[in-house]
Amino acid sequence: MEVLQAKFVRQFVEMANDGYTHGYHERNGGNLSYWILPEEIEQVRAHLFPSRPWMDIGTEVPELAGEYFLVSGTGCFFRHIKDDTVNTCGIIEVDLTGEKFRILWGFESGGRPTSELPAHLMNHAVKKGITNGKNRVIYHSHPVNLIALTFLLPLNDSAFTKELWQMMTECPVIFPDGIGVLPWMVPGQKEIAVATSKKMKDYNAVVWAHHGIFVSGTTFDEAFGLCHTIEKSAEIAVKVRSVSHSKLQTITRPMLRELAAAFKIKLAELFMR
Ligand code: 13P
Ligand code: ZN
Repeated sequence: MEVLQAKFVRQFVEMANDGYTHGYHERNGGNLSYWILPEEIEQVRAHLFPSRPWMDIGTEVPELAGEYFLVSGTGCFFRHIKDDTVNTCGIIEVDLTGEKFRILWGFESGGRPTSELPAHLMNHAVKKGITNGKNRVIYHSHPVNLIALTFLLPLNDSAFTKELWQMMTECPVIFPDGIGVLPWMVPGQKEIAVATSKKMKDYNAVVWAHHGIFVSGTTFDEAFGLCHTIEKSAEIAVKVRSVSHSKLQTITRPMLRELAAAFKIKLAELFMR
């Protein structure tokens, strides 16, 4: 099968385009990666060419040795992914040490994977262990309201989780573990990749102060839906704060407990205090 016809590629492109139309990807902002299933790589193997050199990942991911990923390219605009997939995206293979990768398909005009490849692969490695290989998608975007909130709330997991849980009734159901928050850090480096992957041990979403968010998901829909929900909740928070400094009423802790009982979910106790 031609790579562009494979279902996982079509879903990847559709999600990238959804992110663009939602306004999460100005210019080359944001990036996306998908851990390809063994049967999916077999479907397209005839169109993969191991002719390009091995390159450093910039970190170590021995847990992902020999695995294949579809990734967006550095400097590529999400608005172009739909119509120019072969130049804006590529399939890569991780070597057996987990320290290098090579391009097998895509990046036809000489591009290479996103500068956040270390963060994507370290997050995949952590989630592979936690979810027994079920997590497949890691997504980074720049949603405007969430970034705005990083100028207004204390930069810690508790402040963000509590505020965003309270902004829309179904938020606690969608991210019952809460969300992680990192202080401002230089993007594209191993340090921010390590810090993000540590937070991914506890959460499916990690906010980067004054920058954006990383989310994980078992499917494209799960990952995109989580980002979309968090950003919508952040938009409500920003709107409420724009109108008034204080809230007249909110979703209280007893209400959160009622919700958890009704939906049979366990909300992270840390944020119920
Ligand atoms: P890339 O163009 O390298 O993917 O970087 C975009 C970005 O959002 C960095 O955090
Ligand atoms: Zn970014």
